[in-house]
Amino acid sequence: MFGMDSFELNKIAGAVLGTLLFVMGMGILAESIFAEKKPVVAGYALPAAEPEAAAGAAPAAASEPLPVLLAKADAKKGEGLVKPCSACHSFDKGGPNKVGPNLYEVVNRPLASHAGFNYSASLKEHGSKGEKWDFAALDKFIANPKGYIQGTAMGYAGMKEADRRADVLAYLRSLADSPAPLPTP
Ligand code: HEC
Repeated sequence: MFGMDSFELNKIAGAVLGTLLFVMGMGILAESIFAEKKPVVAGYALPAAEPEAAAGAAPAAASEPLPVLLAKADAKKGEGLVKPCSACHSFDKGGPNKVGPNLYEVVNRPLASHAGFNYSASLKEHGSKGEKWDFAALDKFIANPKGYIQGTAMGYAGMKEADRRADVLAYLRSLADSPAPLPTP
């Protein structure tokens, strides 16, 4: 009986030793992998810095809040700035859907809600959550469509200058029977 126990003990000791060796081995392995990956880890510092870069890019936009930019925005200038948009959008009341939906009265309209247009699944999903095209949402979408609505079918790279976007928003706002009130600065 004692023999059995010592056999069991040996088995346990063996298992413990084996586990220890395994853990040590993994440690060494992990260390060597970690050491090898060091340059990669250093490389990863870049994406980590990206939010900072984005924040760094933002000051142009963040220099003045949207309501302030909107208060002095120029709808006429905006009309000139939407030329690239008109390749895909009509802006007149009752105008046709083209590659993109008609944009008359788009301000404060629920996302993906214009009749007769076949929206992407992702824009429809956002719309089904009750999101509206208020000035802030339009501003973010026009700045970076795919950044704001991942998977959108809108093939437009984005308009980087916040003051130009404000002009575009002022123009979009003017396309309504009763233009939406401007946000108070
Ligand atoms: C290459 C074609 C193309 C260009 C250029 C383009 N759009 Fe679009 N736009 C689309 C498409 C397609 C959709 C529908 C996106 C979807 O279903 O995901 C869309 C959707 C939109 C919507 C959402 C409308 C809704 O009913 O939900 C807005 C707002 C919009 N575009 C504004 C603009 C503005 C402003 C510009 C110019 C700065 C522009 N677009 C340039 C194709 C384009």
